[in-house]
Amino acid sequence: MPGQLHYGATAKLLHWVIVALLAVQYPIGWLMPDIHPGQAPGAAMTFHISFGIVILVLIVVRLIWRLTHPVASESSLPPWQRLSSEAVHWMLYVLVLATTVSGWVFASFRGWAVSFFYMMPLPMLASDNAAAGKAIDGLHQAAEWSLLVLICLHVAVALAHLFIYRDHVMQRMLPK
Ligand code: HEM
Ligand code: HEM
Repeated sequence: MPGQLHYGATAKLLHWVIVALLAVQYPIGWLMPDIHPGQAPGAAMTFHISFGIVILVLIVVRLIWRLTHPVASESSLPPWQRLSSEAVHWMLYVLVLATTVSGWVFASFRGWAVSFFYMMPLPMLASDNAAAGKAIDGLHQAAEWSLLVLICLHVAVALAHLFIYRDHVMQRMLPK
């Protein structure tokens, strides 16, 4: 894989800001109350959707940054580990995108008027459509759970590099 040998400050900053936002986003998602038909979204849903949109924008920026600033895999790793880590990393991008977009589409089909952090109205991707909403019900949950499983695997491997292999892989994503 061509490109630089190390992640730059921008890639690291984007990585850790997205980690922090996901750490806020999952608890909001699980704790927020269900919204029944005819009910307007409350504060928890407004914040969930607003943080979700921020995550969507940042993952798109990060993906563009990654494509324009390729980073070579850690050269000390055996080929199978380089290949599998690349595969997991690309899947992480795909699943963050799938989770955010499926949430936005689902919220749009519910026909809600949602604000972005109570500052301005948030554009929706479609108008109220109960049948379409029913058809894609569960997609957001499937994406969010698949993402969580992959994050657990990714973190477990990062910690294994830090504490068991004691190599430089974890260092690659830490500030210099
Ligand atoms: C990566 C970012 C996101 C994560 C990790 C996430 C996570 C979650 C979680 C954990 C739930 C609770 C569902 C459950 O009980 O399993 C949820 C529900 C929901 N989320 Fe998200 N979400 C994200 C982005 C978004 C975005 C961008 C939107 C809309 C613009 C959104 C809209 C919704 C809606 C409408 C629900 C309630 C409907 C449902 O239960 O499926 N989410 N989300
Ligand atoms: C919570 C959600 C997380 C997501 C979505 C995520 C996503 C990613 C992605 C996409 C990459 C690949 C970067 C690239 O090459 O483009 C990456 C690299 C990395 N991540 Fe995460 N990450 C998360 C959490 C963590 C955590 C908690 C740790 C540490 C415990 C961690 C440690 C690392 C390390 C060390 C690398 C560099 C691996 C290498 O290329 O050698 N990540 N992460």
